Amino acid sequence: MNVLVIGSGGREHALVWAISRSPGNPTIFCAPGNAGTGALGTNTDLDSDDHEEVVKFCRDEKIGLVVIGPEAPLVDGLADTLRENKIRIFGPGKEGAMLEGSKVFSKGFCDRHGIPTAAYKVFEDYNKAHVFIDNSGLETCVVKADGLAAGKGAIVCDDSIDAHAAIDTILKERKFGDAGNQTIIEDRLSGFETTLLTLVSGSNYVKLLYSQDHKRAFDGDRGPNTGGMGVFAPTPKVTPELDEIITRDIIEPTIKGLADDKIDYMGCLYFGLMITDEGPYVIEYNCRFGDPEAQAVLPLMKGDFLNALKKASEGNLDGVDLRYSGKKALTVILASEGYPGKYTKGIAISNDIGPLEENENLIIFHAGTRRDGNLLFTNGGRVVAITALGDDFKQCRDQVYSSLAPLRLKGLFYRKDIGQELVTV
Ligand code: AMP
Ligand code: GLY
Repeated sequence: MNVLVIGSGGREHALVWAISRSPGNPTIFCAPGNAGTGALGTNTDLDSDDHEEVVKFCRDEKIGLVVIGPEAPLVDGLADTLRENKIRIFGPGKEGAMLEGSKVFSKGFCDRHGIPTAAYKVFEDYNKAHVFIDNSGLETCVVKADGLAAGKGAIVCDDSIDAHAAIDTILKERKFGDAGNQTIIEDRLSGFETTLLTLVSGSNYVKLLYSQDHKRAFDGDRGPNTGGMGVFAPTPKVTPELDEIITRDIIEPTIKGLADDKIDYMGCLYFGLMITDEGPYVIEYNCRFGDPEAQAVLPLMKGDFLNALKKASEGNLDGVDLRYSGKKALTVILASEGYPGKYTKGIAISNDIGPLEENENLIIFHAGTRRDGNLLFTNGGRVVAITALGDDFKQCRDQVYSSLAPLRLKGLFYRKDIGQELVTV
């Protein structure tokens, strides 16, 4: 089968990698792709904003399945256009993608369907938001831009001074542009976070493994929120008993809520959860695979991933049998210095990435990289994801960190504490 994957990040490299291992030898195109996807398939500079061009490409290349990696084309309705043109597509339409595209929408969805989420208020006017903070007595809170902000639109506040500054950042200085036309101020929950990726096809779903992302830029969960700096899977913190509670209180009501709202969701639904002493809460929904969660979860999978995506896109997950190797996975992101703020592109990294790619204990997923002849350069904030599989998390950590230690890594940084809590406790 010919498959087209849309996107250019580490998640898309992981998707292409997992699809390429499916039986049947699929031919893979990636638009625009990166240096990693180019080694497994054909990168094409198809413009995914131009829906008609994507339709034409699919017809010309006889594409049997399109997989949309990032949220923006989903929120923009690319999946709807492809479906209208009878092209098989894994990814929700515009309505389902609103679960990620608007936090005001997703909070309303949780309220409507009795799904636990932090108490919140919505504001458009910054004066009203400031008055709310002064009067609410909230000690800590989270201030969020309503729309898409590349994982950086949630500002976690320790006190009212932080909250006032966050309100100004979003509503006054408009750091996130129109994505910040509305802001949500919500209670700050405490507990531990976990991500569950699910393949959803209408009222059917398949759960993948629970994982744990590390969103803050620096060790010890300090610094600004990023798209994710590292991850491990499966997280041992989610016991079978906890999985049962999450399924009963969150997953099932979400799937039923989609049906009640007449949203025919076909694609990956990402549950970002906070497990508190009172039980699990939804922190966020995403309408696509997590990045870097996909880079840890997909390498653990043994079943036929392409078949599962195809079946989900056809509205029938019966018989999908995704098995796992029983191993653990741990992923560390190498990011450009300055990320998630300003950073420089075009730094030569061949001497660092070359030895990592030759190390047979590691899987390297490219993200912000650009190849020029034999040379590799940085081309984005998150540059590569380094995944190790092992019998336990200590082995995974040793493999990743011992291979990074001797490298120069000029212009790059990484967190040194991914999965540390699992081996010191
Ligand atoms: P979001 O963009 O909504 O996923 O938020 C990004 C990150 O901010 C989450 O992964 C959490 O670490 C943190 N966060 C968001 N909402 C809350 C909340 N209500 N309580 C505590 N932390 C939160
Ligand atoms: N790693 C968080 C996300 O994909 O949104």
